[in-house]
Amino acid sequence: MAAPAGESGPTGKITFTINETTAELPQSAPLLSAIRDHLGLTGAKLGCGEGACGACTVLVDGEPVRSCQRTAGSVAGRTVTTIEGLGCGPTAGTGLHPVQRAFIEEGAAQCGYCTPGMVLTTAALLAADPRPGDGAIDAALAGQICRCGSYPRIRRAVHRAAELTAGRAAPGEAPEAPDGGADADRWGPPLPGGPQYRPARPWDLTDPADRDWFAVLGDGLVVALDPPPPDPGVFTTATTAWLHIRADGLVTGFTGKVDVGQDNRTALRLLIAEELGVPLARVRVAMGDTDLCPFDRGTFGSRSMPDAGAAARKTAAYARTVLPARPGERRVELVTGEPPLSDPVRWKLAGHPHLPPGGAAAVTGARRFVADLGQPGMWHGVVLRPPAPGATLRSLHTAALAGRADVVIVQSAELTGVVAPDQATAAAAVADLRAGAAWDAPDAPSDDEIEQYLRAHPSDGAPGRWGGAFDHQEGSAATALESAAVRCEATYTTAYIAPAALETRTAVAAWDDGGRLTVWTGTQTPFPVRAQVAAALGVDEHDVRIIVPATGGGFGGKHAAGIATEAAILARQAGRPVRVAWSRAEEFTVGTLRPAAVIDVTAGVSADGRLSGWSFTNINSGAAGISTPYRVADQRLAYQPAHSPLPQASYRALAATANNFARESMIDELAHLTGADPVEFRLRNLADERLAAVLRAVAEHIGYQAGHAPVSGTGVGIACGLEKDGRVVTAAQVTVGPGRQVRVTGLVTGYECGAIVNPATVTSQIEGAAVMALGGAMYEAIRFTDGAVANAAFSAYRVPRLADVPPVEVILLDRPDLPSAGAGEAPMIAVAPAIAAAIFEATGRRLRSLPLTSDGTLPGE
Ligand code: FES
Ligand code: FES
Repeated sequence: MAAPAGESGPTGKITFTINETTAELPQSAPLLSAIRDHLGLTGAKLGCGEGACGACTVLVDGEPVRSCQRTAGSVAGRTVTTIEGLGCGPTAGTGLHPVQRAFIEEGAAQCGYCTPGMVLTTAALLAADPRPGDGAIDAALAGQICRCGSYPRIRRAVHRAAELTAGRAAPGEAPEAPDGGADADRWGPPLPGGPQYRPARPWDLTDPADRDWFAVLGDGLVVALDPPPPDPGVFTTATTAWLHIRADGLVTGFTGKVDVGQDNRTALRLLIAEELGVPLARVRVAMGDTDLCPFDRGTFGSRSMPDAGAAARKTAAYARTVLPARPGERRVELVTGEPPLSDPVRWKLAGHPHLPPGGAAAVTGARRFVADLGQPGMWHGVVLRPPAPGATLRSLHTAALAGRADVVIVQSAELTGVVAPDQATAAAAVADLRAGAAWDAPDAPSDDEIEQYLRAHPSDGAPGRWGGAFDHQEGSAATALESAAVRCEATYTTAYIAPAALETRTAVAAWDDGGRLTVWTGTQTPFPVRAQVAAALGVDEHDVRIIVPATGGGFGGKHAAGIATEAAILARQAGRPVRVAWSRAEEFTVGTLRPAAVIDVTAGVSADGRLSGWSFTNINSGAAGISTPYRVADQRLAYQPAHSPLPQASYRALAATANNFARESMIDELAHLTGADPVEFRLRNLADERLAAVLRAVAEHIGYQAGHAPVSGTGVGIACGLEKDGRVVTAAQVTVGPGRQVRVTGLVTGYECGAIVNPATVTSQIEGAAVMALGGAMYEAIRFTDGAVANAAFSAYRVPRLADVPPVEVILLDRPDLPSAGAGEAPMIAVAPAIAAAIFEATGRRLRSLPLTSDGTLPGE
């Protein structure tokens, strides 16, 4: 008897309708991978695999469904809509669904990895409730995670979509796109010669006279800024840039920076357009390809504007001086001297808000991340991981996999893993290996022992990376503290937390017949990754190309070459292209964490209310942001590295968040102990007038009343920060319920970073930073037992969700008379101390450990 329509027949396949066409899938296949791998619809993303993040959302008969939790059989005979099929016909000529249109207009995506799931869930909400309030929006999107923290914009986009759907508002202007038209992603149209074209040798490793510029770029004018002699006294991540101007006027800037959602791309385009005096739409930027782009140490430390921006400006300004009337010839100019730069006070394009290009690609699923890419003949690799950091493999039995033609076992000095035709087969094979593996694990502490452990395990540190130990003295802090009128001593701690980027790390590696390796991977440091991969594989750096396609937010976590090296080793051993995609659990256990911190502070105040002595020691987490912006003549600043039991490395704002939490909390304690208002105490003691100006602006904006009487159960806290030349002040408002439940009800951030290149991007970065910092302040903590991470899943590691996010306001102070600083990190650092101060005002309880709450509830007294 034939199977009913839609149900499994003798072939084990089901039929269903997807995006208005009929399709077949294997009945038992997971729905997410079936849609992606069999049908090539990659808009639904893998974020967690456990139903906890919403990245894989599709609509089934109009209802949002987590496709990672379903089999294909569950949709037999039903109607599935993926993001690729959402468009319901022309909307004001755009062909986009009103929700897609609204997300573009509101700039509601940074990296865009969460966006397809957000858009589909919003479309389902509006179909059921055309005018939802904030409560209904929060409830509908409760299962969706955006780690870039775009929630305030997402909330606005939902309201905007409701207006557009009801016809209560006309769509805004179509967002401008660089060359390539409306379909161009922010990553830009393919370069001339096609995406597979490459120079004979990486340009940055080739003498300028030998670079085959025009074979790649076509005729035109090339202007190259080559690196100046190294200056050991100056830290910089980028000193070079180059520029190509085609006969038709299309300008292509080249930078080694990458865009992982922060939209430094638009800021760099703006600077080039401004210096050249051409429309923004005529400028595109090629980023993160080590064959084509100038060397760069990495996209970290808020250095895109100070370093790459400065190089791009100089190159474009020089180009303007040598630009012929028709740049159709083949001509190469090397930048010499110091070309005159434009005056930021007179900027026409820069300094004004511009949304990132590529919004349409983000909201339609057209943006293709590394996990969406493939290579002919590609297989999938999975690596056998130890049960805890530092564990070493004592023995391994591989008999369970013996004779399998569909499994290649790879055992090398660097890794043990498996390559198979699909991800599920590879993962199952590694599970078989795990059953036959024995490990030697070192003694390691649990999370409740970490403060004592770090104090007891000092190290020398690693100069050049985290910096070695130091103990810096000005005057005599000890003497000043002895004679202080008021003295306070406290220890502050922060937990290990994870970047937990929604896009898990992925790398695709392919070797060509000539022994040259290409790795596509989402890294913030393509050039260091090239060097590390070459060293690990024992090949010349010339023979490695790293390409950074569209990449999800990294937050400092996507630095290391680990996954690129794994893919390269497995590909070489398997003799075919290999993709490695870390699971969510690997992100938490193999990826590096923000270091735990133990910070001892002793401070003194003289009788006139001025800081008189300051002693500050950071154990383990780092020296970033350790300097104080307050005036204190007698001070001691010390950093003591430690042996961390968990893998730790970069994280957005590095140690500045921990150091600023400790410093600003101590300032708040001193104000309280001396009976001073916390804002007035800060203004009296701040040495940095720019920071004081931001503090005054925020205090005025929120109507701060010095000396106001606290109201039980509610509190307002304010904290300052100065990091990477960005001045930040955050005001937080909280309520504390009778069950000790804490709710942050408002965040206001004032920020000054010199000349603002793109206010739209800066505002978006500040909002995202506030949301990310809220998580670290309130809930986020890696739990571990005997060194093994115990909460390596989004269901066990709480990150901010839409309902956790209060109204977030941003106040920008533009200083076109000053150099531009970054905005990705400093806005993180004042959130936690502001919330802690607000909780103190609400409850009288001084909390000195991050996170401040356990899942939103104050710890017992
Ligand atoms: S909910 Fe399916 S991938 Fe996260
Ligand atoms: S924009 Fe939401 S995860 Fe990046």
